[in-house]
Amino acid sequence: MSKRVLLTGGTGYIGSHTAVELFAAGHDVVIADDLSNSSVTVLDRISEISGRRPDFVKLDLRDLNGLKQVFRRFDIDAAIHFAARKSVGESVEQPLLYYDVNVNSLLNLLVAMAEFKVDTLVFSSSCTVYGQPDVLPVSESTPFQPASSPYGNTKQICEHILRDYSLTGVGLKAISLRYFNPVGAHESALIGELPLGVPNNLVPFITQTAAGLRERLQVFGDDYDTADGTAIRDYIHVVDLARAHVSALQRSLHHPNAANYEYFNVGTGSGTSVMEVIKAFEAAAGVPLPYKIVGRRAGDIEQIYADTSTANAELDWRAEKTLADMLSSAWQWQQHIAAQDGPVG
Ligand code: UFG
Repeated sequence: MSKRVLLTGGTGYIGSHTAVELFAAGHDVVIADDLSNSSVTVLDRISEISGRRPDFVKLDLRDLNGLKQVFRRFDIDAAIHFAARKSVGESVEQPLLYYDVNVNSLLNLLVAMAEFKVDTLVFSSSCTVYGQPDVLPVSESTPFQPASSPYGNTKQICEHILRDYSLTGVGLKAISLRYFNPVGAHESALIGELPLGVPNNLVPFITQTAAGLRERLQVFGDDYDTADGTAIRDYIHVVDLARAHVSALQRSLHHPNAANYEYFNVGTGSGTSVMEVIKAFEAAAGVPLPYKIVGRRAGDIEQIYADTSTANAELDWRAEKTLADMLSSAWQWQQHIAAQDGPVG
C-alpha cells in the first residue's frame, strides 16, 4: 500500500537514492533537508529518474516548530531519518556541533512524530557503533565498543534513545540500519556522492584522482594484519543500501509482531582491502590509478565486515551488486559531475 514517507536529509547521497527506490515501490516522498551538504538540484535529478518529484521543505531539524509545520502540511505515514553530520574528523574538531545536530534532530523528530501520531521510523546508523570487533564477521548481537569519535558516539546515543523510547510502549516501530561502507552511484549517473572539498572517503578520492583532480591516492597503511597489509571494509552499493530502507519500511508497516525496536547490519558480508579496491577500480574503469602507501590514518580500524544473515532473513533483502558495479557506477558519476558541474574544491 502506498505511503507518504518523510526523508530527512533526503537530498543527500543515501537519501536521494532512497527517494528513487521509494518512488519505484509506489510510495510518495517528502524531503526535509537544510541543504548544508547537498544541492537542491538533486530534486531535478530524482524527478528525471523517477518521473515524479518529491515535495521539498528546506529545514534544519533543530527547528522543532518548522518540523511540526512539515507534519501539519503533509499527511506523513512514516519517516526515514538520514539528516546528520557524518565526518569523523570534523566531529573531533567540533563535538558540540555533532551532538547538537545529530542528537537534537532525532529528539525533535520523535517529538513531532508523537504529536502527529506517526509511528514508523527507519534510522541511519553505522557500523561505527561496533568499533573494532573482536570476532568477524560482526553480527547485530556484537556489543558496542566505546566510540572512537564524537560522530560515532552520536550514532550510539541515537540508537540508545530509540531503544529506551520504544520500551515506553509509546507505539513507535523503529529500525536502525547499520550501514557498512556505501559507495557507487545510480546507474543513470544523475545522482551520486558529492563531497564538499577534499574527500575523506576512499572511493570519491579514487574517482577524483582518476579524473585528474587529485595527484594521487594515499593508501593509509600497508602494515595491518591482513593478506595484503591494507585495511578491510565491507563496501556496499548505495542502490542496494537504498533498497534496504524500502524493505525496512515494509517490515515496520506490515509485521505487527516484530519488536518495537530492531537493528540490522546492511552490508554485503564480504571484506575487501584497500588494494583490492584499487585493482578492481582500475579494471572497472580501464584507467590506471596513481597511489602511494603512507602511514596509517589516526582512528582507523583494521578490518570490519558484516554478518548479514539476520538482515537477509528478516528484511527479505540482500545486496545484489558487485564491487565492479560499485566502482564503475562511481566512475560514471565522476565523469558526469566533471562534465556537468566542473571540478570541486
Ligand atoms: N583510505 C585510504 N585513503 C584515502 C581514504 C581512505 O587508504 O584517501 C582507506 C581508509 O584508511 C580505510 C578505507 O580506505 O581503510 C575506507 O576508508 P573510508 O574513509 O572510505 O571509510 P571508513 O571505513 O574509514 O569510514 C566509514 C564512514 C564513516 C564511518 C565509518 C565506520 O565514512 O562515517 O565508515 O562506520 F564512521
